[in-house]
Amino acid sequence: MNIKVQTNYEEMSKVTAEFIINYVNHKPDSLLCLAGGHTPLRTFDYLIEAAINRQVDFSECKFVGLDEWVGLGKSVKGSCQETLYTSLFDRISISEEQICFFNGLAEDTAVECKRVDHFIFENGKIDVILLGIGMNGHLGFNEPNVSPDLYSHVVGLDPVTKDVSSKYFEEEVNVKQGISLGIQHIVESDTVILIANGAKKADIVKQTVEGEKTVEVPSSLVQDLPNVHFFIDEEAASLLEKSDKE
Ligand code: PGA
Repeated sequence: MNIKVQTNYEEMSKVTAEFIINYVNHKPDSLLCLAGGHTPLRTFDYLIEAAINRQVDFSECKFVGLDEWVGLGKSVKGSCQETLYTSLFDRISISEEQICFFNGLAEDTAVECKRVDHFIFENGKIDVILLGIGMNGHLGFNEPNVSPDLYSHVVGLDPVTKDVSSKYFEEEVNVKQGISLGIQHIVESDTVILIANGAKKADIVKQTVEGEKTVEVPSSLVQDLPNVHFFIDEEAASLLEKSDKE
């Protein structure tokens, strides 16, 4: 795991965007999986700015969604799909054919998992997967005690995830399940980027990097992969024994 500590959220976001831009410039037909949640939002702003300034071109890229709340569709503000469209896809001139996203309203979630897996496999593999880290170490909706050998799957949400969920929605939603790419997709990705910021993530960042590799902390499962880049700010890194500060 390559860990780079930046002074603050702004710098962390800039460095993350630069990494993705460089990657796409070297492989213009990349398959990208970019997480929803709050952590990547500023990174998205930098990607949009770079696209507008023609420093990057996403026209040959494909995009696959990381996860979705079961029962919520794109029309719900705060759903993963709505977040990605509003904060990125609608602003970088890409077409619907380039995007495959979990439909949280799918009648048959098993079929929906197969549809998304198929999209990934027919494009080879994910080139870059950008992941925030949940307060419980989840990656996407790979919750504590996840089976590490799964591709897309439906999960019962962990109590911590249910608690945290209210921050995304204007109205009260009662979410019980998630639909998510699996750890197997993450492990098979060419490049994994983890991002975390703020003091509230310091403990889970420490467990991710320096704790035991365990399914109880899903983010720890990627700690010894060679192709993992972890961009964090100083607050999130504050409990780490050693890290590469920039
Ligand atoms: P956040 O969510 O980026 O909103 O902190 C991360 C996550 O729960 O995966």
